[in-house]
Amino acid sequence: PTEISRIRNISQVEFGRYVLFPWYFSPYPQVFDQEDRIYICEFCLSYYGSHKSFARHRTKCNLHHPPGNEIYRDDYVSFFEIDGRRQRTWCRNLCLLSKMFLDHKTLYYDVDPFLFYVMTTRDDRGCHLIGYFSKEKESTDGYNVACILTLPQYQRKGYGRLLIQFSYELSKIEGKLGSPEKPLSDLGLLSYRQYWSENIIDILLGYNARKEPCTIENIAVALAMTTQDVEHTLQALKMQVYHKGEHKIVVPDKLIKQREKSKAKQKRLIDPERIQWKPPV
Ligand code: COA
Ligand code: NA
Repeated sequence: PTEISRIRNISQVEFGRYVLFPWYFSPYPQVFDQEDRIYICEFCLSYYGSHKSFARHRTKCNLHHPPGNEIYRDDYVSFFEIDGRRQRTWCRNLCLLSKMFLDHKTLYYDVDPFLFYVMTTRDDRGCHLIGYFSKEKESTDGYNVACILTLPQYQRKGYGRLLIQFSYELSKIEGKLGSPEKPLSDLGLLSYRQYWSENIIDILLGYNARKEPCTIENIAVALAMTTQDVEHTLQALKMQVYHKGEHKIVVPDKLIKQREKSKAKQKRLIDPERIQWKPPV
């Protein structure tokens, strides 16, 4: 691939009731580069170069939700699990769509080794895609997320947090410690740092109250995070101190106050009790 091929190729995308403005190159067929606007069916994710062909498709498309099992539902969102091998076309289309907002290389064609966890919002017309994360069926590196995306029209509303929480809830059910695949994008890193800090602070405040020993290992297991991610977060927040010959974890007052403030604003969480999922055997 030459340098030119990495330049953003699609100008506008009509997707459900939104018009999206791509950030990065995505390998849609080259004829689409010439169109002012492409049209993506928000349910089956197939793409069209003209409104006419898209409208024709919409009269025939029967899909109203992602093609997999609904494994989570609350008043607010649903999660579907989709197998890349069983729903190859849909998953490839999802990767093409998400590549428009992901800078680094992602796989578009070899979706078979992945499961896709897709978060939607429901209304009387169906389940509308908010975002997703993909996960290797077998990750030798212990990654619990490969790619993660909130569609731009839904960003900065707390959905990324829900996706990240969901990925760790699955790791808890599996009894594993997980971490996202590296490298993370800038936005990915910001979101993960925020998630890790908040959750570690919450755990520590809980531990203080219950007077349980707080070790890096205990925190890691409680949050299904790797000890390395816990340790890095503690270091970044300057929460590790060396006192009277002992390493201790302390939460500075400033962080407690910050957390109280952000908790008061925080709207939604995943309710782990509602997850209907068993690890694949
Ligand atoms: N600027 C500063 N901080 C940001 C940020 C931004 N643009 N986006 C997220 N954050 C941080 C904030 O701390 C935020 O918490 P706050 O809103 O309470 O301050 C926290 O991350 C969580 O934000 P949230 O609204 O839950 O995330 P999101 O729905 O916007 O999704 C991503 C986050 C990373 C999934 C989204 O930005 C995205 O899809 N980006 C493009 C794809 C990508 O880079 N994915 C990661 C690849 S590794
Ligand atoms: Na990116």
